[in-house]
Amino acid sequence: VPTAGRVELRDVTFGYPGAERPVLDGVSFVAEPGQTTAIIGSTGAGKTTLLSLVSRQYDPQQGSVAIDGVSVSDLGRHEMASVVGLIPQKPYLFSGTIGSNLRFGRPEATDAELWEALRVAQGADFVREKTHGLDERVSQGGTNVSGGQRQRLCIARALVARPRVYLFDDSFSALDVATDARLREGLGEATAGATVIIVAQRVSTIRSADQILVMDGGAVVGRGTHDELLESNETYREIVES
Ligand code: CTP
Ligand code: MG
Repeated sequence: VPTAGRVELRDVTFGYPGAERPVLDGVSFVAEPGQTTAIIGSTGAGKTTLLSLVSRQYDPQQGSVAIDGVSVSDLGRHEMASVVGLIPQKPYLFSGTIGSNLRFGRPEATDAELWEALRVAQGADFVREKTHGLDERVSQGGTNVSGGQRQRLCIARALVARPRVYLFDDSFSALDVATDARLREGLGEATAGATVIIVAQRVSTIRSADQILVMDGGAVVGRGTHDELLESNETYREIVES
């Protein structure tokens, strides 16, 4: 039974520096290891901001963010990288090779482990087609990797690092439904035991989540399973019907 990677937010309030109004207002939830917690809500609701507090790009003005009972503000930068794997909404690569990008969180990973992560992330085919494979060079603004491929590399990079907590920020919306389903099936196995938090646009992506949080205007306005929310939550019904 997995016991590591429990994420707990308590009454978190956060506003960006210089802004008048908070972007998150009194957000509380627990995401358990071995479970998938999905977050859905309209654009600007605060989903990315929420993930940026869990990965400690920002600290909240009020409330606490803890992983396995330890405040993330007590985790060092290096420690943080092995605890939380963020797949950002705008995926980025470092200048270097595909291999060095994939090894970013765990330099000692073997080639076999990189290929396995690529297979799960649905990225093995395009890397294999590159002249130099894992040694192919990529750059920040490079054009030899498309947006979708970049996203798959970022997913593979997170898998290679084997964190306790995975944060997927809208990583699946651009995929066709079949690829989305295939990718998430493989991810289910690869991330088993870890805490998985998925921000999503499509209901099909989150239908089977253990817990769904509905966000609106910086607050959690509903939580439950898909069926429970369909019963009880007007905002969720509107999202499903849209
Ligand atoms: N915001 C801001 N400064 C930033 C990032 C975001 O002021 N550096 C504001 C946005 O304008 C928005 C709010 O914070 O009003 C929440 O943004 P975000 O968390 O990015 O919203 P998401 O729910 O992630 O929206 P989307 O679905 O479009 O990704
Ligand atoms: Mg976002």
